[in-house]
Amino acid sequence: MNPVQTDKLKPGQILAEEVRDINGRLLLARGNQIQPNHIRIFKIWGISEVNVAGAASRMDSFDPELDSELVEQARESMMILCRHVDMEHPAIKEIFNLAVQFRCRHGLVEVESNLHITEPELPHQTQKQNFIDALYKKKIILPEIPAVVFELNEVVANPMSSAVQIAEVVNRSPSLTALLLKIVNSSFYGFPSKIDKVSHAVTLIGTREISGLALGISILSTFKNIPKEIIDMYTFIKHSLACGIFSRVIAAHLNSNQTEQLFVSGLLHDLGRLILYIHFPKESHNNITRSRNRSKLLFKEESDYLGCDHSQVGQQLLKQWKLPLIIENCVFYHHNPSEAQQTVPATIVHLADIMVNSLGIGSSGEKFVPPLDRAAWENLEFPISNFEKVIGQATHQFKALESILRL
Ligand SMILES: [Fe+2]
Ligand SMILES: [Fe+2]
Repeated sequence: MNPVQTDKLKPGQILAEEVRDINGRLLLARGNQIQPNHIRIFKIWGISEVNVAGAASRMDSFDPELDSELVEQARESMMILCRHVDMEHPAIKEIFNLAVQFRCRHGLVEVESNLHITEPELPHQTQKQNFIDALYKKKIILPEIPAVVFELNEVVANPMSSAVQIAEVVNRSPSLTALLLKIVNSSFYGFPSKIDKVSHAVTLIGTREISGLALGISILSTFKNIPKEIIDMYTFIKHSLACGIFSRVIAAHLNSNQTEQLFVSGLLHDLGRLILYIHFPKESHNNITRSRNRSKLLFKEESDYLGCDHSQVGQQLLKQWKLPLIIENCVFYHHNPSEAQQTVPATIVHLADIMVNSLGIGSSGEKFVPPLDRAAWENLEFPISNFEKVIGQATHQFKALESILRL
């Protein structure tokens, strides 16, 4: 029993494991013979791959032979990137091995010389900034919530909202409308004919899914004009989108009914970093340089020199914007989920962030793989044997949604 990409399924193959959509609804039970209409339904519901009886193993069916020298190089560079994680932990061991193979296959093996920054450090900051204090005293003004986000949040929170009402809000923002239509017409959904109305898209994909996507995208679009010298927004959004998708896939594996909130939480988990980059560009640049030169975690540098880290800043912003509590909880605790009121959703984002950092998909500024919160991991009860499938499904979905990256 091994996964086969939906595009490569052949009618007549036998399903080795039931297929459910991202909200847990059963699409096809185990043991059924796959028919052409099943393949179409899988595509419509964004199922990237299914388990088929007798298929070749993924690790055998992708690139058959990895160059042993490249694998060695990938292992060595990964050892440097993993210096803050417990390499003896079984979950980390599995992520490490999968990441080595993934990086070899996708040209993401770090060259040793790139792992150390040669830029000189800025003068030592003698006085610790207190960002949160300044925030409370209103010395720092956080960005206003974009009108469309506010309105979307309202219609989404109302269980009586119809597809037409959600579409009306989306239609008020031409850029969001264009982007959403681009996404629903992408290979990710694989609809047979072109969808040119938002209301049609909402009906087909579902109100929760479309509004989660619209909410996350419109928030990240607010920051698209940050100068490249401060942060490359392309790689930042790549990291954010990957974390959103990985969080949703892990949540679906856990049969969670909060897959969309998890997607938005993953998408926004490092949002606070954008605020730090805007208000403290020099200090943030210095923190990044210092963390790499001294091989320290960036969020620890933030705490040491700014008096708080990006998760606290992100929480403040989401609180001000009155986004759902579960998102605020996931963002605030994504580096220490065992301390969260709602541990499981925060741990899902935490695990997604560790996977995405290990695989090297985009970056929010952090170079090293963040450490695993052991207590939270144990509480999650997620089988390590599912990691390979999660990575396969999530990276496939990520590829199909890459059009979002050109916000
Ligand atoms: Fe983070
Ligand atoms: Fe992150």
